[in-house]
Amino acid sequence: MAEEDFREFIDKVLSRVDIVNVISRYLPLKKKGKTYWGCCPFHHEKEPSFAVNEVGQYYHCFGCHESGNAISFVQKLESVDFMDALRMVAEMAQLEVPQFKRSGDKTVVDKRKKDRLLSLLREAGRHYYDNLSRPDAEIAREYIRLRGLSTNIVRRFGLGYSVDGQEMLDFLTSKGYSLAEIREAGIAEIKGDRHYDVYYGRLIIPIINVFGETVGFGGRLLDKETHIPVKYRNTSATPVFDKSRIIFGINLLKKKKQKEKINYVIMTEGYMDVMSLHQAGFDTAVASMGTSLTYQQAKSLKNICSNVFISYDGDSAGQAATMRGLDILADCGLNVKVVSLPDGLDPDDLIKQRGREAYLELLKKADTLPAFKIKVLLTRHDLNAPDGKSKFAVEAMKVIAALTNPVEKEEYLKLIRDYTGYSMDALRQQAGISEKEIEKEKQEQNARSAPQETENKPEVLDPAELFVVASIVHSQPYVTDEDVFEFLTSPLLKELYSAAVDKRRRGEKINPSALYSLFSYDVSPVVGYEFMAGDDEAKYRSCIVRIKQAYYTAQKARLSEEYAKASDNASKLKALTAMQKTDEKIKQLKYGDL
Ligand code: UTP
Ligand code: MN
Repeated sequence: MAEEDFREFIDKVLSRVDIVNVISRYLPLKKKGKTYWGCCPFHHEKEPSFAVNEVGQYYHCFGCHESGNAISFVQKLESVDFMDALRMVAEMAQLEVPQFKRSGDKTVVDKRKKDRLLSLLREAGRHYYDNLSRPDAEIAREYIRLRGLSTNIVRRFGLGYSVDGQEMLDFLTSKGYSLAEIREAGIAEIKGDRHYDVYYGRLIIPIINVFGETVGFGGRLLDKETHIPVKYRNTSATPVFDKSRIIFGINLLKKKKQKEKINYVIMTEGYMDVMSLHQAGFDTAVASMGTSLTYQQAKSLKNICSNVFISYDGDSAGQAATMRGLDILADCGLNVKVVSLPDGLDPDDLIKQRGREAYLELLKKADTLPAFKIKVLLTRHDLNAPDGKSKFAVEAMKVIAALTNPVEKEEYLKLIRDYTGYSMDALRQQAGISEKEIEKEKQEQNARSAPQETENKPEVLDPAELFVVASIVHSQPYVTDEDVFEFLTSPLLKELYSAAVDKRRRGEKINPSALYSLFSYDVSPVVGYEFMAGDDEAKYRSCIVRIKQAYYTAQKARLSEEYAKASDNASKLKALTAMQKTDEKIKQLKYGDL
């Protein structure tokens, strides 16, 4: 899909939905005058300061200054990325979503097919759950008791049971799904000429994405003494299931976030850890399901909360693959702490053996990522061996050299000094060497990869420029066709201005709130602009005059500098002539002769 079509689609979606309707799905709004008010979902408050402007189709919170349009609202509240929010709002507007590719997606799945698989999976999950109360499911109920899972947890996670290889297939075919579809959803496989339910005899754990859609299952073997070797059977890759993107428990995390602030998330390795932690009251536990963490997982976590405790089994915590995952989290800007569990114990075991208080203590004692890395290095080096200390110090300084905060650096240096007995100076020197190496590596990497997008710092806007551009963006009646583009100094306002003027010239309606989605800048000062009494033609004209005056005054200063620097008469004369012309313009502006 071309860039132009994409922008048009965003515009179309935003002109079709009503932001008041969209937001009302999430929180009650009350109309007062022209504005709708509610309690802000982005910070915690009792008195409503969250305003929804129906005319402009945007929201603004006077408490925490969040603002945006229907898409950004859904994006934040549903904890999803822009494309997913766009899809959701498009559906609310009952618009067919064109198939734009998400960058990095190799395959584009037909939406109708995907919807069918999702409803198949939803019905299957529901049916597995219902199976739990069948008389012949006693073995599964027994297992649930054995693992100490409460009825509440069984319900919260929608646990279920697959009674045999056939029952689920009969159920789904009776609902009109084909065997091919059941295979495609990852529930059936073929053996010989027969299809069978791959989860048969297992406790079913539905895997649910951030939208609340069941996308796959994990199946736990009930019996230890069995010839079947695989403890958990998981859905393999399907059109709706990608193990590297999903986080087990993210649906519950998202729901919680819609109700209250989430202070931290606990990332574990497995299903049982998550359920056990929830049962013990740690209801922000999620799991990566046994694989090391990916960028996609880090990003979807960051949409919800930036503080993460890593709570892996003591054995796997220090492994290289785990470390890479932790670095990915940190690279994505998450604040990572690592909980140290005794070897061989996972959070589920620990809570069962020592209780919730003991786990809470471990959370409190969790190490920062660099401290954890140094601890792991300590276990790998024998400091009493001949060159053990120096080898440890070299490795540890690599960890420290990668830090950017000098205060933090100093703290860890002291720690290494205490371990090794080396002087701070010697350690600093070693850190310097490592820093250079890291810098070199970075430069090589940058040379190989494409330039990064620079972050947009909010700029201070000139009030006159802001008023003029906001007037055009909001199609105020007094706006004239006079072009002021060259006089604007702010890049943000220049871009907004030209986008709005283009539309105006083509006689198209300008949709202010769409600007939130079209620009990489924070456009809220313009889109959320509140017009006041007295904002009329006279003010508009005087603002334009002020903008031009500022422009010519700056130009004059530049020219006078040029004049001072000029070495030959010809350039001096040129600068002088230009200065006189600029003076002329300034005078004209002052005396209104335009
Ligand atoms: P664990 O072996 O630590 O299992 O694997 P667990 O979660 O503690 O489960 P219990 O307590 O033995 O019942 C951690 C995670 O790795 C994945 C699962 O997601 C599991 O929760 N795993 C493990 C598999 O996918 N397949 C397996 O055969 C084993
Ligand atoms: Mn376990």
